Amino acid sequence: QKDGYDWFMRKEIFEQPEAVANTLLGRFTEKGDLTLDEVRIPPEDLRRVNKIVIVACGTSFYAGLVAKYAIEHWTRVPCEVEIASEFRYRDPIIDPMTLVVTISQSGETADTLMAIRHAREQHAKVIAICNTNGATIPRESDAVIYTHAGPEIGVASTKGFLTQVMACYLLGLYLAQVRGMKYGDEIRAMMGELERMPGLIQQVLDDSQPVLDLAAQLKNRRSVLFLGRHVGYPVALEGALKLKELAYIHAEGFAAGELKHGPIALIEPGLPVFVVVPPRGRDQLHEKVVSNIQEIRARGAKTIVLAEEGDDVAERYADSFISLPPVSTLFQPLVATVALQLFACELATQMGHDVDQPRNLAKSVTVE
Ligand code: F6R
Repeated sequence: QKDGYDWFMRKEIFEQPEAVANTLLGRFTEKGDLTLDEVRIPPEDLRRVNKIVIVACGTSFYAGLVAKYAIEHWTRVPCEVEIASEFRYRDPIIDPMTLVVTISQSGETADTLMAIRHAREQHAKVIAICNTNGATIPRESDAVIYTHAGPEIGVASTKGFLTQVMACYLLGLYLAQVRGMKYGDEIRAMMGELERMPGLIQQVLDDSQPVLDLAAQLKNRRSVLFLGRHVGYPVALEGALKLKELAYIHAEGFAAGELKHGPIALIEPGLPVFVVVPPRGRDQLHEKVVSNIQEIRARGAKTIVLAEEGDDVAERYADSFISLPPVSTLFQPLVATVALQLFACELATQMGHDVDQPRNLAKSVTVE
């Protein structure tokens, strides 16, 4: 049931505070440790891991890109992220010391399933992050972390993505705990921040009018670009994918630092460019992204800036400003993505498209 919403997708976007809270439920013991009961891989095996490889497709792949920043930062274990359909066919280097993490909302994606079968043949341990109880991918993995988002009906993934990102943070912190890289107080502080995320996601939803107004202004554009750095880069990719899928508009996400290596040639007067700005705490990155905004604005682009509330430095160069609640850089995807999901949903609605069933797409891609 759509519960009064026009689309399942919009309903699912608004369910995200609860979905993310459910992913977190019961992960924290009274002693203050993080527990992931489902990860039945012995801690000795997790301590031996010398490489983490994340394999997934589409939006789930972007969740994996976010995870890489967090997992490497917290565990200092090298982490690669790969599109499942590429991984399987390139003779990847994996062995029993590799931990393969697979991310799939449906748990039935054929490319991802083939990738984990290949990984297990090489005796790697496989942990699945999945939203569907008893699906094939978790059944064929050594362990599973369920995201508990509830059924996702809209073809475009929304709460699936946010809960995957949350599950990845939990896995990263758990690995850091098991491997002795992070201790009680640090883990507790980060878990405390994660526990505040549902309320902050709600804040983005409550303050979404500017995003909806922007969608009305930008319908029928031919092309839209998205820029970000660090974890803002996968957010940019996800923002672009949502727009392609739902509004059938050409949309591309770039790492903002790559702009001068080519994409800046695309900038022309009036071109809408979304820019995800890291929180000001990360001074260097913040400054660099702000200078990217100046560069594209000087060439006439219409800059749509997503930045922390009160970030007047970024706002100075914004034609439209979308304010985000203050969070740590690593956790910013949980709030920034929500604004981009709403934008794509609203734009596609205004253009008269079927948001829940975009053309040519299937919810679960069970063929390679
Ligand atoms: C995009 C989308 C797809 C899926 C991809 C993987 O909105 O839904 O890109 O993310 O097909 O699907 P799962 O996560 O079910 O393996």
